[in-house]
Amino acid sequence: MSDILTSVSGSTLILTLNRPAKKNALTPQMYEVLANALNNAAGDFAIRTVVISGNPEAFTAGNDIFDFLNTPPTGPESPVFAFLMALHDFPKPLIAAVAGNAVGIGTTLLLHCDLVFAAPNALFSMPFVTLGLVPEGGSSLLFPRLVGHVKASEVFLTGRNFDATEALEFGLINAITEDPLVMAMDFATRIGEQPPTSVINTKALLKSGHHQAVSMVIEAESELFRLALESEEAKQAFMKFLSKKSLG
Ligand code: COA
Repeated sequence: MSDILTSVSGSTLILTLNRPAKKNALTPQMYEVLANALNNAAGDFAIRTVVISGNPEAFTAGNDIFDFLNTPPTGPESPVFAFLMALHDFPKPLIAAVAGNAVGIGTTLLLHCDLVFAAPNALFSMPFVTLGLVPEGGSSLLFPRLVGHVKASEVFLTGRNFDATEALEFGLINAITEDPLVMAMDFATRIGEQPPTSVINTKALLKSGHHQAVSMVIEAESELFRLALESEEAKQAFMKFLSKKSLG
């Protein structure tokens, strides 16, 4: 069974993160599949919207921490960077359905989605600082833009979680619903019935004020992120997570 499931329903491509034993932690291979799927969908006239989801227990636990230690991303040619750029440049509506933990890139990818629906058990976090890292995926620009500087600082600098209710207050999600995938598909169908060129142009206009700035921030973040991955602070944080695991 693949770690990323892809299916098509009507004019919607559904991408399902499917590595449940590891809480859908993302590997380079998974980023590559996701990036390719988005790039293909961008040019596929039959696809009008994309829905991204996990399972009822986890959206994703973020980047695989073993990979952070053993095969850290190297730069612009890395699969994670390709995925972030595919996400950032994706021209059609992206809709996320979130249940359980959305850690690290699991939350930052939502900042690139056009609609987000979350289950009551959704728990969001961007613990980059706690892991000795820095924000990524344009989140150091997009998150404060959404919630303001002081709230963004609180979340980033403490690494704390926030729940679905707070995410709704932040404007990170559209609604809290028992079955976010059903609601995501409902909106995907409704948007898929709209004139497609108008939808694409409207999304481009909504992002036009900050699209280029976000591209530059993604690049700057990834350079700092790459350096941080080699730091003692980060290595100690990763070992702490892995040793907890070996202690059971
Ligand atoms: N990378 C690699 N493995 C991970 C992982 C990650 N990011 N997140 C979870 N896993 C693995 C665990 O090691 C465990 O594996 P095992 O069963 O072989 O021991 C399995 O997934 C289940 O995780 P567990 O921690 O037991 O689940 P939980 O429900 O108690 O907690 C989380 C879920 C997401 C809160 C917790 O796993 C976690 O904090 N993960 C790390 C998140 C993180 O820091 N990601 C990086 C962001 S930049």
